[in-house]
Amino acid sequence: MSKFRRPLWLSVSLCTLAITSLLVPLALRSQTTAPPPPAILLGTAWYPEQWPESRWDADLTLMQEAGVHMVRVGEFAWSTMEPSEGQYNFAWLDRAIAAAAKHHIYTVLGTPTAAPPAWLTQKYPETLRVYEDGRRAEHGNRQQFNFANPKYRELARGIAEQMAKRYGHNPWVLGWQIDNEYADVSFDPETKAQFQQWLKARYATIDNLNVRWTTAYWSETYSDWNQIPIETRDGNPGLLLSWKRFVTDTWRSYQKNQLDVIRASSDPRQFITTNMMGWFDGYDLDIVCKDLDLASWDDYVGEGQLDPALNGAAHDLTRGFKGKNFWVMETQPGFVDWAPINNSLNKGEVRAMAWHDVGHGADTVSYWQWRSDLNGQEEYHGTLVGPDGTPVPLYPEVQQVGRDFAMASPVLAGTTVKSEVAILHSYDSRWAIEWQKQNGEYNPVSEIISYYRPLRAITQSLDIVAPTNPLDHYKLVVAPGLNVISDAVAKNLIEYVRQGGHLVLGQRSGMKNVDNGLQTERQPGPLVDLLGGRVEQYYALVHPVPVQGQFGSGECSLWAELLSTKDNQTEVLETYGKSNGWLDGQPAAITRQVGKGRITYIGAWLDADGMKAAAKWMTDISGVKPALGPVPDGVEVYPRYGDHGTVFILVNFSKAEQTVPLPSAMRDILEGGTKDFVTLPVYGVAVLLAPPQ
Ligand code: GLA
Repeated sequence: MSKFRRPLWLSVSLCTLAITSLLVPLALRSQTTAPPPPAILLGTAWYPEQWPESRWDADLTLMQEAGVHMVRVGEFAWSTMEPSEGQYNFAWLDRAIAAAAKHHIYTVLGTPTAAPPAWLTQKYPETLRVYEDGRRAEHGNRQQFNFANPKYRELARGIAEQMAKRYGHNPWVLGWQIDNEYADVSFDPETKAQFQQWLKARYATIDNLNVRWTTAYWSETYSDWNQIPIETRDGNPGLLLSWKRFVTDTWRSYQKNQLDVIRASSDPRQFITTNMMGWFDGYDLDIVCKDLDLASWDDYVGEGQLDPALNGAAHDLTRGFKGKNFWVMETQPGFVDWAPINNSLNKGEVRAMAWHDVGHGADTVSYWQWRSDLNGQEEYHGTLVGPDGTPVPLYPEVQQVGRDFAMASPVLAGTTVKSEVAILHSYDSRWAIEWQKQNGEYNPVSEIISYYRPLRAITQSLDIVAPTNPLDHYKLVVAPGLNVISDAVAKNLIEYVRQGGHLVLGQRSGMKNVDNGLQTERQPGPLVDLLGGRVEQYYALVHPVPVQGQFGSGECSLWAELLSTKDNQTEVLETYGKSNGWLDGQPAAITRQVGKGRITYIGAWLDADGMKAAAKWMTDISGVKPALGPVPDGVEVYPRYGDHGTVFILVNFSKAEQTVPLPSAMRDILEGGTKDFVTLPVYGVAVLLAPPQ
């Protein structure tokens, strides 16, 4: 069967449905109300368009028996919704939503624009994106569309509007996901012209752009906007950063194009989100999220087992986009099909991961996907039901998650994550370091995690936010690798310290300005005066260098900055041992008290013990306390705060059973009773309610 041909059962039903779907859908008219959904939802991606309707009820029954309360539907179904231009077929979707509702399952609708139908791209080939090497994409995969193309936007808006008009008031539709994992951009001439217009709007005159990009270097000077190319790797740093900012703004306007029509035709109770991608840095996710009601992301481990710090930081990053609870829109039922080795999570780890998600502030955990597609690119991916329609071995574990969520939903309702410590995350800085690594092994995300890991172990709760965010409610703000510091960021950070906060800058901070050019002061640029010290020189390291002082004796690797103090109130915290001569005996970390505030600079990538000691020092001196108290290594603590007290979620990711003493008697939500300690097997979970103090 050709990849464009639908199975017979679907083709037959389409003829009748095309007519009936123009009428007011009866199935929808009968559904005027729905009970409020539980606070914590278990969900799954369901593709009813791939299955005979006679099978739906069996699938929905199995979902209901697993405690599933939400299906995400429709995000790749454009060819089924609009089989030919202007001929809509929504009757199947009406019935799918109604069938799910009969099982008390809510629907989240995805707009199908990540997968345009073949008729569309055949008729409007300009809607296909162009790769960087000039080839045009073809039908047969997904994400083949051009995000900047006006015709594509018109067609995308059209289908989104049809959906919104039909389902915007459906009580069983909880909300909307626009498109799916925005990622691939286009390098066609029209997009390039838009980029040049974007530059004109940003820089106003070509002379201004030339000065800010220092284009006299290598004769890069432009005399006309239309001379400016697109570069993604080897271009002028100002050009590279501008392209990323253009891509960010273009995805944002791509999204707004659909968001506006959905908002105009839907109940305010229906949220609008898109599924973001953790550490993915194709554009500034924080900015793209600004127009959405809710942040959500697709949380995959890929190869290996869950690293609670690396994964937890991605949760905190996503939560930081909107500063509130978020959704895990997709996660892996055991394993994926795209990693080098698609090993399964261990028995018990999927449940542990679900609670880790909720602990970080997720209000929904949704598995991708429900059942194996019978054909298509993802036949090997993990599912909850096999191609034969019967549960896979993981299903009972997910059932347990469903039971857990049902028990814990009432106490988790209205609870949120609150932290005394924030880590600053800047896409500009990550990109700037990635383009000019100086040490090929330098990974800006690993740098963030090297701070995050020990800080989270101490505090048991961290926020990750953009450096332009309000910071005054944090006792400690840590900025690893804040390479690019704009004037607005400098102002925000200086203000924070002057008002009594403690700012810790990690290595490579304050080197670049807003155009990805060098600051005219040494690092940390506009913060040099506040710090009363600076970076004299940076050194990429081949071999580790000894370092000792306030954080004990250890080593640093990859990167070492030679610091100096010019203010007599600036103290040296760490010094380098014998190394390349330049660094020997020189400061590696310095700190200065500023009124009630403090600023610290750590210029060396410390080893794990050094980072632990540094985290202990910075939290102690800032008066930061752990949320719960000491727990055995490998036990993760996740507090969520509400009016009725604090819910502490505990998950044992260590390799042995652990007993955790509790600082006060707490109600055990999953096991029942009141406890002053809990014993957790490997991957064991406890949900504990501590009444308000
Ligand atoms: C992404 C996509 C899904 C699916 C999964 C597989 O997250 O959004 O459609 O392809 O990956 O892991």
